[in-house]
Amino acid sequence: MLVQRNHETDMTIRIGIIGTGVMGADHANTLARNVPGAVLECLYDADQARARSVADATGAKNVATSPTDLIKNSSIDAILIASPDQTHKDLVLECLAVKKPLLCEKPLAPSAAECLEVIGAETKLGRRLVQVGYMRRFDPPYVEMREALRSRQLGKALMLHCVHRNVSAPSWFDEKMAVTNSAVHEFDIARFLLDDDLARVDAHVPAAASGTSVGAPVFLVLHSVRGITVTIEVFNNAGYGYEVNGELVCEKGSLSLRQPAHLETRAALAQTITYPADWRPRFETAYRLQLRAWVESIKTQKPEGASAWDGYAASAIAEAGLRSLAQKGGAAIAMERKPGLYS
Ligand SMILES: NC(=O)c1ccc[n+]([C@@H]2O[C@H](COP(=O)([O-])OP(=O)(O)OC[C@H]3O[C@@H](n4cnc5c(N)ncnc54)[C@H](O)[C@@H]3O)[C@@H](O)[C@H]2O)c1
Repeated sequence: MLVQRNHETDMTIRIGIIGTGVMGADHANTLARNVPGAVLECLYDADQARARSVADATGAKNVATSPTDLIKNSSIDAILIASPDQTHKDLVLECLAVKKPLLCEKPLAPSAAECLEVIGAETKLGRRLVQVGYMRRFDPPYVEMREALRSRQLGKALMLHCVHRNVSAPSWFDEKMAVTNSAVHEFDIARFLLDDDLARVDAHVPAAASGTSVGAPVFLVLHSVRGITVTIEVFNNAGYGYEVNGELVCEKGSLSLRQPAHLETRAALAQTITYPADWRPRFETAYRLQLRAWVESIKTQKPEGASAWDGYAASAIAEAGLRSLAQKGGAAIAMERKPGLYS
């Protein structure tokens, strides 16, 4: 059984969240207030006090004492995983073992091999239950960019330029994390926008930043299977604000993301807009639409958003990116053959 109840007659999806840090708390808040047909049933966090305070703030009914209890709880239909990256694979496999649909925050797992374990378990079930939290697929400007490209009015895509900047990186965030944790968003959105896989990556840290152990910028040049060039700058220690930019250059014109601004101030001989401190305001709509689509997909049993295969692709590209950084030269992106479940 997909879930324990008949959704034809009972259309409320009871959700459990594992990990109630920045993202888990944000998703809990959105699910409690902005997703029709969802009920926040239970939360778990390794820090029990944290789970309790998020439950109090969002009205979640219960707090679990272990992730396994939450996953196996028969009054929970679907699970959202928002714990640290290295915990994802085992939790996803536990959810699949009890055949429950899940939304796993990105990355599906830090390594391609772990993602393939998930794909193995899901293909064995013969049914897609995994959605990966690559929420940019629901961000209206990216969706418009994709539609504009598909309309062919600007001709073929030639180049995609992506920029991803954060205010400051935590002390444990090195250039490898910039690739496996941040650039994965860009890998996924490039595959989504271009409807193409990526074949080769050349990654480097600017020589001027060598010796920077925390948040050094990483610059990547990738080539898609159809020959589109993708450039990505990830700078997690950019100092001034959170910013994501993208420009898709086509044969007859270009499409650029605009920075959303709610307010412009003119004062003291200057005109200013502010940058958000992190990603939540910029992608608020995308997170909400992603959660709504996830809940709807559980009711209709029609998968939405990034699949486990997409999660694997992003992590496989990241792995090639790490190889390229280590060998100081380009690396081929090797992918397994795609199982029919994901066609
Ligand atoms: N989609 C996005 O835009 C986006 C943005 C930021 C982070 N993320 C991803 O979301 C996940 C969480 O990131 P975050 O920024 O919320 O981190 P965070 O550190 O704020 O929160 C992680 C939470 O998980 C808890 N935790 C640790 N180990 C656990 C375990 N074994 N089981 C359950 N809970 C555990 C911690 O106590 C903490 O409360 C990461 O995988 C991250 O890559 C996604």
